[in-house]
Amino acid sequence: MSLLSVRDLHIHIGDNHLVRGVDLAVERGECLALVGESGSGKSLTALSLMQLLPSHARLEHGEWLFDGQDMRSLDEKAWRKVRARRIAMVFQNPMTALNPTMTIGQQIAEVICLHTSMSRREARQRAIDLLERLGIVNAPRRAKQYPFELSGGMLQRAVIAMAVACGPSMLIADEPTTALDVTVQAEVLALLQELCRDEGLGLLLITHDLGVVEAMAKHLAVMYAGRIVESGECARVLSQPAHPYTRALQAAMPSLGEARESLQGIAGTPPDLSRQIPGCAFAPRCPQAMNICVRELPQTRLIETGQCTECWLWEKPE
Ligand SMILES: Nc1ncnc2c1ncn2[C@@H]1O[C@H](COP(=O)(O)OP(=O)(O)OP(=O)(O)O)[C@@H](O)[C@H]1O
Ligand code: SF4
Ligand SMILES: [Mg+2]
Repeated sequence: MSLLSVRDLHIHIGDNHLVRGVDLAVERGECLALVGESGSGKSLTALSLMQLLPSHARLEHGEWLFDGQDMRSLDEKAWRKVRARRIAMVFQNPMTALNPTMTIGQQIAEVICLHTSMSRREARQRAIDLLERLGIVNAPRRAKQYPFELSGGMLQRAVIAMAVACGPSMLIADEPTTALDVTVQAEVLALLQELCRDEGLGLLLITHDLGVVEAMAKHLAVMYAGRIVESGECARVLSQPAHPYTRALQAAMPSLGEARESLQGIAGTPPDLSRQIPGCAFAPRCPQAMNICVRELPQTRLIETGQCTECWLWEKPE
């Protein structure tokens, strides 16, 4: 059984139907990468899995299982225990997750004290051990410093240390390396990989970088306008993309070492999600669109190359 399995996830904010029936599964010890253009609903999906959506958002699920438990039945008190202890999240900007008036060590220790039975002294020592494990040199001294005294790379490591401090079984990382330079990025990714391998952590990784996807993910889900349009084993999806949107995204997204100036955006703009979309949301931008695409949503199909995709090109003719 998957560590996390979500079926038919919908998120509405006001009149906008922003996430429109997402299915996701994260396995123990593996990384699932979630990619898609800006505004496709990746962060909303991630926040919903931590029950951290803005209060005016409306959430609906077909199924939502985590470690065998039905998460739809939890109240806020139960959720507070789940966050940090069982599912943790690393937000894109490390500064937003840290308190500027407390030292890094105090902040990590506080999370540990809040969620475990460790004493303050034990928690402080665990914080230092974690910082060391995350490659911070001279961790006892760094633990006594405030966020403004640390570099971006160190802050991101501190945030990851805080997220994994209570040994969660799943980590959601929303663009954890976007703000970092390439060397630090590679180090942070290696640490996340180590946590998956050694601790069996299930990782949901949101990124804009296909180089990162290739290096990290076993599975890949491609999101467009609030739906997963293609998913499957990462190597297969990237080598034989089945959905025209995946191909367009691949052409537009940077790979490791690729110069950004050479990249082309995807022509056109994503649809207005305050209106109902009866067919394929990519149709107005798709070079292969047919009449039926605008009228009817294709079914999700498991195709011969092993991935699932939602596109009329893969429907068998009657
Ligand atoms: N609090 C909010 N209130 C209203 N609309 C929101 C809110 N948060 C997000 N949205 C809208 O929901 C859509 C999806 O947003 P989301 O942040 O999930 O996108 P994303 O895929 O994470 O994009 P990016 O790659 O830029 O981070 C966007 O159109 C956004 O404007
Ligand atoms: S369903 Fe039609 S419009 Fe949508 S991606 Fe496939 S071919 Fe293009
Ligand atoms: Mg986002």
